[in-house]
Amino acid sequence: MIDIIRQWFPAAAFKAATRQFRADVFRGLRAPQKELPCKYFYDNVGSALFEQITELEEYYPTRTELGIMERHAAEIAGLLGPRCLLIEYGSGSSLKTRHLLDRLCEPAGYVPIDVSGGYLRRSARALGKEYPDIEVLPLCADFTRPLALPACRKVAARRVVYFPGSTLGNFAPEAALALLRQTAVLCGCDGGLLLGIDLQKDPLVIEAAYNDRRGITAAFNRNILVRINRELGADFDIKQFAHRAFYNAAQGRIEMHLVSRRDQVVYVGGVPFVFAKGESIHTENSYKYSLPALTDLAEAGGFAVERIWTDARQYFSVAYLALRHSGPVFSVQCSVIF
Ligand code: SAH
Ligand code: AVI
Repeated sequence: MIDIIRQWFPAAAFKAATRQFRADVFRGLRAPQKELPCKYFYDNVGSALFEQITELEEYYPTRTELGIMERHAAEIAGLLGPRCLLIEYGSGSSLKTRHLLDRLCEPAGYVPIDVSGGYLRRSARALGKEYPDIEVLPLCADFTRPLALPACRKVAARRVVYFPGSTLGNFAPEAALALLRQTAVLCGCDGGLLLGIDLQKDPLVIEAAYNDRRGITAAFNRNILVRINRELGADFDIKQFAHRAFYNAAQGRIEMHLVSRRDQVVYVGGVPFVFAKGESIHTENSYKYSLPALTDLAEAGGFAVERIWTDARQYFSVAYLALRHSGPVFSVQCSVIF
């Protein structure tokens, strides 16, 4: 029985992460439209708030995607094939992944990747206990950066990246394309990408999902300021920033903002930032795709769409994308399968 979980996040990496956080915050707050990268929502508190969001009546994506996974897990596992190394981007609680791990044929290992280190460690520990025959190798990293995958003991037949939750939708189209291309390289020959993406629908349904009655999404949004206060020595008065989420039809995305309730000056590590009343910090985009747009993106990224599953209302999609072996866009590194 194999039960090994490795976690590697030394102090030097922690300091580098804080430096990067400060640089990103300063850059974002100096922009004409103030903005913050949404990956900074996710510390222990942010990840726990996100888990609460997934259980909200209004937040349809998680339960819809779970339903698709439940219904089609056997077919999906068949497509992924025997002895695959499953790599997950933004694994969070790895809830949906359990449907795959239950059915995969002799997986070579499972590499959950997440920036939220404490949460990742706890989820990986729980998974290691539930699946003692699967080597779980958590990696605390930003999946948009070059990744050094941990070595697994078993020989893998192929690498498959699992990217659920519509987290790709949090990237602007150019960044999403760059991430797909980088993923194609990571997957290597014969690899694949299992992608969960939220679809276009009635904007009222989408807006309700990001403006829940209990205010959990508002707390999740504001948590980014709580985190800046704690980790970068800032003095944001959290109550003085209102949560705002609206559908931008021209861009096909939900935008989340934090709107200053008054004229105010906030200090971050001693550096002043001026906010006018009504001025916002843009904290997140969540793009909603059509199936043709998703197909175009996949192909431009170097993948071919093998299969797309949706729910009856066509609210959400899970697509299996296989690496294209030829194509004019760019060449894929093929020599690295273990
Ligand atoms: N996959 C889960 C969680 C989605 S929430 C689900 O489908 O429910 C998005 C997750 O991605 C969070 O756990 C967050 O910490 C992680 N995340 C966001 N940006 C990231 C990045 N650039 N690199 C690594 N993890 C990231
Ligand atoms: C993780 N991501 C896809 C979620 C989304 O729907 O964009 C994050 C989230 N933001 C507000 N609610 C949930």
